[in-house]
Amino acid sequence: MYINNLKGKYVQHLLSVDDMSEDFILEIWTNALKNKDTNSTSLTGKILTNLFYEPSTRTSSSFYSAMTKKGGSVIPINNVKFSSVTKGETLEDTIITMSTMSDSIVLRHPEVGSAERAAKVSPVPIINGGDGDGEHPTQTLLDGLTIYSNNNNNLDNLNVTFIGDLKNGRTVKSLVKLLSRYKNNNFNFISPDNLRYPSDILPINSFESDKIEDVISKTDVLYVTRVQKERGSDHNYALTEVTLSKLNDKAIVMHPLPRVNEIPKEFDKE
Ligand code: CP
Repeated sequence: MYINNLKGKYVQHLLSVDDMSEDFILEIWTNALKNKDTNSTSLTGKILTNLFYEPSTRTSSSFYSAMTKKGGSVIPINNVKFSSVTKGETLEDTIITMSTMSDSIVLRHPEVGSAERAAKVSPVPIINGGDGDGEHPTQTLLDGLTIYSNNNNNLDNLNVTFIGDLKNGRTVKSLVKLLSRYKNNNFNFISPDNLRYPSDILPINSFESDKIEDVISKTDVLYVTRVQKERGSDHNYALTEVTLSKLNDKAIVMHPLPRVNEIPKEFDKE
């Protein structure tokens, strides 16, 4: 399958949100909603390699589940410590090898640009399942659909507040890219000084602060992220129920997970 990207070209790899046009994303969402409860044989005989150099629960398992539900199979390299990577194999050699055994590869890797490196040598599609603090486009497919569904099938006119480790959070960067394409969206970036969203990619209509109180009452979407200790961040924060009670009734609260203690469990709804 080829992806229709932002420049109107068809591309083989999904490395960034920019590789997907709005029409393509809408088609994915429509198909996903229509077929979410159906098993099929549409991927019978197809093999996906899950190649994960970093831990994952959701991303690796969701690809496994989707492939299995559609009749396909997965080669699970979910912990490269038990692969030939520990013997010094390069990313490129691993990709070339696995491309001879599979029809597509989902890659998670700690380095920004690793998915692009993999795509340069891969004859089969590479799907970026998170590259360092770079991007996480498949998470954005899910986050975008959540916002779209909760906003009357629309992604315009939103006040979106991101809070947490905005320096290292790749899901935030991909979601900002997507929402920046739509009309009249305002972005609030709330973080301590050392975890600020990178200034070179700040969208127009941005507001930065270290106090959630500055924006919480006018927020439509509150997107909370974890502090990424594995990338050297050292900070703790936890929203309280009192703070969250200042959200307006229609606001939604999202978190890409895993959650540590950023949102109190008591706030969860069934
Ligand atoms: N949201 C997300 O990427 O979760 P995992 O790290 O568990 O895959």
